[in-house]
Amino acid sequence: MLITRLFKFSASHRYYDEARSPAENWALFGPCSYPNGHGHNYVLEVSVRGIVDPTTGMIINLKDLKTVVDQEVTQRYDHRHLNLDVDDFAGTQPTTEQVAVAIWQRLVAKMPIGELARIRLWENDDLYAEVSP
Ligand code: NI
Repeated sequence: MLITRLFKFSASHRYYDEARSPAENWALFGPCSYPNGHGHNYVLEVSVRGIVDPTTGMIINLKDLKTVVDQEVTQRYDHRHLNLDVDDFAGTQPTTEQVAVAIWQRLVAKMPIGELARIRLWENDDLYAEVSP
């Protein structure tokens, strides 16, 4: 059984590969390559798999899950520029895919109980990346 909680954070990013020419960057990334970046209101779904404790009725105490996600994700990324304020995306681009991978890596070993089963990171209403084991 899975339980899923949603978390929200806002962050800026820019896609630009210094190893490519400006024209190549424009062809590849379009407006996402504008020098000053742009922002998104991200929605993160975190799903935990486990056994329902018969006495609490819970797989995981959602307060404990929130504490972990706040520490590992929200405090790190919220109101930050993902290219400039964290080093998680050095050598790559802070795409939906890569941000989701970074979040997975930060959370997977930190579950207070149960097992991290899946995360989905929504960048827009029509785009998400999903990571599972
Ligand atoms: Ni973007």
